Amino acid sequence: MDPAVNRQFILKSRPVALPTPEEVPMIESPVPEAGDGEIVIRNLYISLDPAIRGWMSDEPNYIEPIPVGTKVWATGIGRVVQSNSPDFEVGDIALGMNAWEDYTLCPAEAASKVDPMGMPLTTYLSILGATGLTAYFGLLDVGEPKEGETLLVSGAAGAVGSIVGQIGKIKGCRVIGMAGGEDKCRWLIDECGFDDVIDYKACDDLAAAIADKCPDGVDIYWENVGGDMLDAVLLNLAERARIVFCGWIATYNDEEKRPGPKNLWQLLAKSARMEGFVVKSYVPQFPEGIAAMADWLQQGKLQYKEHVVEGLENALDAFHMLFDGRNTGKLIIKIADE
Ligand SMILES: NC(=O)c1ccc[n+]([C@@H]2O[C@H](COP(=O)([O-])OP(=O)(O)OC[C@H]3O[C@@H](n4cnc5c(N)ncnc54)[C@H](OP(=O)(O)O)[C@@H]3O)[C@@H](O)[C@H]2O)c1
Repeated sequence: MDPAVNRQFILKSRPVALPTPEEVPMIESPVPEAGDGEIVIRNLYISLDPAIRGWMSDEPNYIEPIPVGTKVWATGIGRVVQSNSPDFEVGDIALGMNAWEDYTLCPAEAASKVDPMGMPLTTYLSILGATGLTAYFGLLDVGEPKEGETLLVSGAAGAVGSIVGQIGKIKGCRVIGMAGGEDKCRWLIDECGFDDVIDYKACDDLAAAIADKCPDGVDIYWENVGGDMLDAVLLNLAERARIVFCGWIATYNDEEKRPGPKNLWQLLAKSARMEGFVVKSYVPQFPEGIAAMADWLQQGKLQYKEHVVEGLENALDAFHMLFDGRNTGKLIIKIADE
């Protein structure tokens, strides 16, 4: 690769469904120069998150949409190669809201310096990053798990879902995961310690399968998926159930809005609640969450998988994996050697 070139994916137009190379092409531009108070980060890894699909749309969201004609954002970790700020030296490792690009120019205050403390850099995008912390704060703060409760997790073999289930086990819950395919389901039982699983792709009647695995009802439902899956869960709530609304990945590429959940009435029938949250709200508490997760990791209580795809040029194809289930674990693009 020419080191004077910055390859970038830009949002040429807002995607209609699954983003295409015409809507999100890769272009080449010059490597940026750091101005006063700015740094340039050589991106080493970027995190591909389903949420990026939402940032490409112009619906109201928790952040402003990516402006058309500009680069596609992603959390990234890399090495500082230029610094005009006293806060960073060349060679430091920096984490920030970077982009699908080789080099990111940003104000120094927009990035955080990372001391890897012997952990692989990718863990700051996975288990010790926003992914792990989504599971940690969403389950503990919104789900309020109690010993003996039944926790049902959708997207269970994914980056967030697999950690949610394991934290649920640490907190004494009975944990059931829903995931697509035998391999993912086996991993949840054998490695992650889930009590039971439902392979939703091999299931004709999901509501009946949930009733079978959760005979006393679902006390906490971790909602990653939406669509028909949510409707099937709604028919199986326990009294005072909590639905932790983390994501609706089944709907992100819908060309037309689908009708809302059919069984929402069950929230009333079971005096249940459904509460959305965004991990970004917990930023001030991140140090506490990272310390707890690192501690559980050291004690061998958490397993995690990373799915690393080599090469920035593969970012768009890799992004599609999140929506067809080809990713096994936290999806990360490796852009350059450390
Ligand atoms: N609220 C927040 O702050 C926050 C933060 C991070 C992530 N999230 C949300 O958390 C969820 C998981 O994100 P992640 O980064 O951990 O991704 P992930 O679970 O590692 O990957 C996405 C998985 O979703 C499943 N999936 C995709 N389409 C599906 C469908 N139509 N029906 C059922 N399952 C489907 C696939 O697994 P299978 O093979 O099992 O189908 C796929 O592997 C997403 O909804 C995301 O938006 C929210």
